[in-house]
Amino acid sequence: MCGIVGYIGKRDVAPLLLEGLQRLEYRGYDSAGIAVTGPKASGLKTVKAKGRVRDLEARVPSRFKGTTGIAHTRWATHGAPSDENAHPHLSQDEKVAVVHNGIIDNASELRAKLTADGVEFLSETDTEVLTHLIARSQADTLEEKVREALRHIEGTYGIAVLHADFNDRIVVARNGSPVVLGIGEKEMFVASDVAALVSHTRQVVTLDDGEMATIKADDYRTYTTEGSRTTASPTTVEWEAESYDMGGHDTYMHKEIFEQPDAVDRVLRGRIDDRFSTVHLGGLNLDAHDARKVRRVKILGCGTSYHAGMIGAQMIEELARIPADAEPASEFRYRNAVVDPDTLYVAVSQSGETYDVLAAVQELKRKGARVLGVVNVVGSAIAREADAGVYVHAGPEVCVVSTKCFTNTTVAFALLALHLGRIRDLSAADGKRIIEGLRMLPGQIAEILKREDEIKKIAKSYADARSMLFIGRVRGYPVAREASLKLKEVSYIHAEAYPASELKHGPLALIEPALPTVAIVPDDDLLEKNRAALEEIKARSGKILAVAHQEQEKADETIVVPKNENELDPILMGIPLQLLAYHTALALGRDIDKPRNLAKSVTVE
Ligand code: F6R
Repeated sequence: MCGIVGYIGKRDVAPLLLEGLQRLEYRGYDSAGIAVTGPKASGLKTVKAKGRVRDLEARVPSRFKGTTGIAHTRWATHGAPSDENAHPHLSQDEKVAVVHNGIIDNASELRAKLTADGVEFLSETDTEVLTHLIARSQADTLEEKVREALRHIEGTYGIAVLHADFNDRIVVARNGSPVVLGIGEKEMFVASDVAALVSHTRQVVTLDDGEMATIKADDYRTYTTEGSRTTASPTTVEWEAESYDMGGHDTYMHKEIFEQPDAVDRVLRGRIDDRFSTVHLGGLNLDAHDARKVRRVKILGCGTSYHAGMIGAQMIEELARIPADAEPASEFRYRNAVVDPDTLYVAVSQSGETYDVLAAVQELKRKGARVLGVVNVVGSAIAREADAGVYVHAGPEVCVVSTKCFTNTTVAFALLALHLGRIRDLSAADGKRIIEGLRMLPGQIAEILKREDEIKKIAKSYADARSMLFIGRVRGYPVAREASLKLKEVSYIHAEAYPASELKHGPLALIEPALPTVAIVPDDDLLEKNRAALEEIKARSGKILAVAHQEQEKADETIVVPKNENELDPILMGIPLQLLAYHTALALGRDIDKPRNLAKSVTVE
């Protein structure tokens, strides 16, 4: 989704902002723009371009000097991608420039009022109303002008504002869309995502909803949108700037798939307690007494995180014997769900900023529920909103499609399930068995990744499929769901996931040689049932690729993966299918890291 970068200091600002925008490219966007000023500048200078950051860069003139500036990558919501609709938006007198992430819900109403007052709009965006409101404010300070304008706004925003008459500062505000300040040596940064800052500083302040800040070259202050001062202490970002580089891989997706052995090692590190065959989860804030009182677990997430939650729910039921299920947060928030005091709600999110998940958490908290976050980005909105949580420590995930974070989230759920299980009825022997299984994961993932060439060959043979069916039963079903999502996102091949048990209740009608099936066939108590499904498909001349713990006779090809404990097998079985999606997309020449129409973190409705 849209990205914001801002800088105030002594350096030439345009190259810095363009570099920051490049670091935000992974979020998905369709146009970009930049506005600069400085103590010696008269007024603001702006350049905007539909297309990529490199298109913007090509338009920036050599004499585009300044030491203060804001920049933006836009993902079209109100109005098509175009030069005019790109941010920053300028006021009529060209003194105010605004970049904005989020959506202003009452924009059309405000636009009508402003138009009636004689304001001429240059774009179709919702953001432009904010620019005019700020410019028309009679208040004496920029902070007060912004505050006054925001009083008229309904909706979500992360904004950065420049004003030619107050060019010693940038004013920012947050409501539902992330804003992070980066503190440097006599220079300050602002961004919607730490990715844009970490090559300059790792000291950051994350604004809360309802908070504003004024940043100057050597100083910053934070306050509420009502004007009362707040205390925001800087924290240190753990992620290194290099984690955002491609590290010798051709794409971030490839890099992130191959980072999984290390990432899984990280989520386990320091958490295993061999003495009691359990795990310690520092941020959980759930003592044994409370944990015993949990009667249900409800997991909420979107997309891949929802699929990780489906695997998590099964692990919790199996290991802790607590009824558990997962539901898309995007559905849950709209259905006036019954909120039960004995249910533990778990919100899952890589970015920690997904609006549907955040809205579900806020609704749950409003109704008095206890919410745990299983989140990757430290200090993100969902992590802060949740009562407690488990960080998944996958490291920064840049590719729009999620791979390593999915895997780490499933491991984090295994830890949570083990923890809850050992407080309840899971025996120490079973706890030990699961711990041994967890310890095997990084090595087993590395083993699967060594089979890349074999999977690449298989992928090439599926690249001309128009559609593919993914099936799995019980533990295998969420794996099939996630594998099918991965394939459609990066290759644009239509894919559908079905429980293998449901085949004869409908989808069998689709089976023919042109519809390949990918079947998840673990060596568990359901092996024979799964084999029967393969037989049914084969009998109808369907082509089958199995992911299994042993060669499957009825399959045309089998990718054999190492066996772990039954409960942990789903963590491994999706990994070859990430590579399958990757190599199919590569064979088709897709834009792997930035699939069409998708954004990394969906911070709007
Ligand atoms: C798929 C994918 C999306 C996200 C979803 C939730 O590869 O990346 O489906 O999983 O948008 O995002 P987070 O996990 O950031 O809440």
